[in-house]
Amino acid sequence: MLGNFTYCNPTRLYFGKDSLGCLKGELDKYGKNVVLIYGGGSIKKNGIYDKVTAILKDCGKNVAEISGVMPNPTYKKLLEGVDIARKHKADFLLAVGGGSVCDYAKAVSVSVNCEGDIWDKYYVKFEEPDCKIIPVGCVLTMVGTGSEMNGGSVITNTDTKMKVGHVFGTEVMPKFSVLNPEFTLTLPHYQMVAGIYDIFNHICEQYFSGEDDNTSDYISEGLMRSLLASSRIANKDMQNYEARSNIMWTATWALNTLVSCGKSTDWMVHMLGQAVGAYTNATHGMTLSAVSLPYYRHILPYGVQKFRRFAINVWGINPEGKSDIQVAKEGLEEMEKWMKELSLAMNITELGANEGMIEGLTKSTLIMDGGYKKLTPEEIAQIFRESL
Ligand code: NZQ
Ligand code: ZN
Repeated sequence: MLGNFTYCNPTRLYFGKDSLGCLKGELDKYGKNVVLIYGGGSIKKNGIYDKVTAILKDCGKNVAEISGVMPNPTYKKLLEGVDIARKHKADFLLAVGGGSVCDYAKAVSVSVNCEGDIWDKYYVKFEEPDCKIIPVGCVLTMVGTGSEMNGGSVITNTDTKMKVGHVFGTEVMPKFSVLNPEFTLTLPHYQMVAGIYDIFNHICEQYFSGEDDNTSDYISEGLMRSLLASSRIANKDMQNYEARSNIMWTATWALNTLVSCGKSTDWMVHMLGQAVGAYTNATHGMTLSAVSLPYYRHILPYGVQKFRRFAINVWGINPEGKSDIQVAKEGLEEMEKWMKELSLAMNITELGANEGMIEGLTKSTLIMDGGYKKLTPEEIAQIFRESL
């Protein structure tokens, strides 16, 4: 049975090869002082920076920049950006980049007028902002996180070794996002497949919970099948626009608040992966792939029927003459083959983790209670050990 829910997603999306054409009209809605936020320089190499700054100039905006937002943006970098946005009296924040840049822009948006301790308020106590929020718009260049259409904002505190995500409410979601699949064509293969696994896992996190027959799970299965088909094409032919555009659209729907409507969600792979990220600074999608199979094999006995359904409806396993558990396990075997086909990280050792980190990784893992099994710290340590 679907539980009660309210659904509202206010982000306006512009999708396709001409989508940047919307930018002038969107920017005209906001004040003169814009802060342009971007990462380590990919947008300067591929020409997106020039296109965006030409539009900002055309709009007559007074622009300041926050550059060098790193993958897994840090709290220290956040404070630096807040300072720039405050001094510039920012009316609008324009994020041009991947999930890190979009997440970072949202964190700046709720922090510019925040009077308290930003980390403590948003990333320890998970409080909602009670100050004026600076509006954010996104031009997406990397596909995976869904940050373009959600309130998520993940920040890493390097002092406490905690990588924490706050999912803010609708008022923090981007006002608009530009999704041009062509902007993602310069991504290295490593980032492309990491993004693909991030998408897949977002769907899994919302799928592996509950035993009900509900619409959200059917939508999830459709999204996963589309992603598998497109990922296999893009893996061999990275410039294939059809596959890359399908992947981009799937990413948005995988984490834009739709497929969790009315059901509980798991999110333990993300909690394990975020701990690995805090310790190794590894690429987000790879931290997830590296811990996924030990985790799913661990919880399979507690959710056999869902893993069986996953095997049949997503991986095409023929259940005839097999026990439920056998079918469920065969689904995960197919998933493992696909992960290897994409060259995903299959263990945390290759990401820089080691036995000596297990205790710290376990302490850094937030324990969630929405999936098939609430893990104990001992089980978490065991899963990390199996992921080495
Ligand atoms: O910094 P630049 O030079 O731009 O390079 C980036 C970066 O090195 C590069 N890149 C991006 N677009 C490119 C490109 N290179 C060539 N061509 C392009 N078109 O890709 C690298 C990775 O970028 P990043 O933004 O870090 O990747 P992603 O989109 O995967 O974002 C990861 C962050 O999002 C968080 C993660 O934890 C991580 O901090 N997440 C956010 C979520 C949300 N908002 O809901 C949920 C996710 O589960 C995730 O946790
Ligand atoms: Zn993710």
